[in-house]
Amino acid sequence: MAFSLRHKTIVLTGGTSGIGKALAARLHSNNQLFIIGRSASKLKALKQEFPGITVFEADLSDTESLAPLAEQLVRQSPHIDLLINNAAVQYTPQFTDKDFRVETIADETAVNFTSPCMLVALLLPALVKDAPSAILSINSGLALVPKRTSAVYCATKGGLNIFTQALRHQLADTNICVLQAFMPLVDTTMTEGRGTAKLTPTVAAERILRGIEQEVPDNDIGKVKFLRFLNRIWPRAATHIMKKA
Ligand SMILES: NC(=O)c1ccc[n+]([C@@H]2O[C@H](COP(=O)([O-])OP(=O)(O)OC[C@H]3O[C@@H](n4cnc5c(N)ncnc54)[C@H](OP(=O)(O)O)[C@@H]3O)[C@@H](O)[C@H]2O)c1
Repeated sequence: MAFSLRHKTIVLTGGTSGIGKALAARLHSNNQLFIIGRSASKLKALKQEFPGITVFEADLSDTESLAPLAEQLVRQSPHIDLLINNAAVQYTPQFTDKDFRVETIADETAVNFTSPCMLVALLLPALVKDAPSAILSINSGLALVPKRTSAVYCATKGGLNIFTQALRHQLADTNICVLQAFMPLVDTTMTEGRGTAKLTPTVAAERILRGIEQEVPDNDIGKVKFLRFLNRIWPRAATHIMKKA
């Protein structure tokens, strides 16, 4: 199977930085690209860099704004070929930290889990059609095995993994292909000051796009391939390694 990434209408969340921006750089010239971001100034700068894109300002933690956002998107294009749920936040503190803020739990859950599910539901009519279309979740190795910090982030990614698998069953008899890409550490704002041997956002984007073109259902990128294998044959070792990640 092959999914061409040319002349498509693509909705991408969180295209203003990191992996999302690298995806935008690759996709903008051959496709109609709709980018959703929360910062007006970053969206303006992105539009200057990639003039052909259309930008939509929305805070994905505000789930009530998602229905009007979806209406705006469908008004621009009644057909959508590809939805990429990429935006996410990661709060690193532990629950035992003195400065742990309880309100981050709702925010992180809304951006990382609720908003991707809602965008799928709201945009489904625009994705269903005669030609092939696709939904891609940008996921993480932490969906497979959690680390000690960022417990809510790990849980939202684990939830996204299960949601994506169930959605794949639901949409098996439609034109929509349901995919996810499991990322290793990538050098972005999210991982600033942590980890080594990170992938660049450009390389990460290349691997993600290759996975879409080849319709790889669960695209394990870089070290995630090893993590999934280790977790199958020796789960205690995988747990031990990832605890300190
Ligand atoms: N970097 C890694 O090592 C790594 C590893 C595994 C998985 N991932 C996943 O890869 C994806 C991209 O992450 P990244 O590393 O590229 O992070 P990033 O550089 O921090 O980019 C995150 C994007 O999401 C947007 N965003 C965050 N909160 C939002 C909100 N409330 N409403 C709208 N947009 C919002 C950000 O907007 P602003 O520009 O305004 O902040 C930004 O465009 C995420 O799903 C992440 O979980 C990353």
